[in-house]
Amino acid sequence: MQIPCFIANWKMYKTIAESADYLHSFEKELQPLPQDAWEAILAPPYTALATVSQILKQVPLPIRLAAQNLYFEEQGAYTGEISPRMLRELCQYVIIGHSERRGLFGETDREINKKIRAAAKEGLIPILCVGETAEERREGKTWRVIERQLSEALDLGNLSEVLIAYEPVWAIGTGMTPHPSEAEAVHFQICNYLSQGEKSARILYGGSANDKNIEGFMKEPHINGVLAGGASLSPEVFAKIIKLGSAAKISR
Ligand code: PGA
Repeated sequence: MQIPCFIANWKMYKTIAESADYLHSFEKELQPLPQDAWEAILAPPYTALATVSQILKQVPLPIRLAAQNLYFEEQGAYTGEISPRMLRELCQYVIIGHSERRGLFGETDREINKKIRAAAKEGLIPILCVGETAEERREGKTWRVIERQLSEALDLGNLSEVLIAYEPVWAIGTGMTPHPSEAEAVHFQICNYLSQGEKSARILYGGSANDKNIEGFMKEPHINGVLAGGASLSPEVFAKIIKLGSAAKISR
């Protein structure tokens, strides 16, 4: 069984001081849990990565770090951007292709592909986000959209390690979610898609995941964890998601 993975995407929330406070409470909440049944990945804003990374070095828990984005060039005159090489010193993972990047900042599948390659080249593990809009869902195009996003982002032939987050755009930050069985059907298709290239990956659900609905999602066989936004901003709630989610996986 793959170890379930729980990602906290803090988006543009938390200063350095707030991040340090969070870690303090988060660690206390997680101490009593069995340490081999889960992995957590925190994705703070760039400004807090160094501090969180330092704190995590003192914490004997399976918590890793992710950046929320990167730029695909190694270095150069790209004001305001951060390269994979810079992130390599701070974190192990990087979120790529989040729907807010695609929707608000116009990121294309082609750019996402370049980012995935650049991350992998530096040894960062990409967390690729895919998902359909409400309109695409209504029109029955969910799989067509996701298959396009996967095929344009990933080179199946020489794909190294990757995590996939299935995040229906209409579920992000809205309190609405698909039924766990509906999400499972998409996860199953993603799993089949990857196996065509003889690959596998942990596939996480994202979009209004919280401590109330986590167990339903985690009982599904192809849902290997969640990527939480809003619900991950509280250390108590995110720790509860990890606790209930990893227990639900074990008891399946
Ligand atoms: P949400 O965000 O949990 O607040 O819906 C999830 C995401 O954007 O990754």
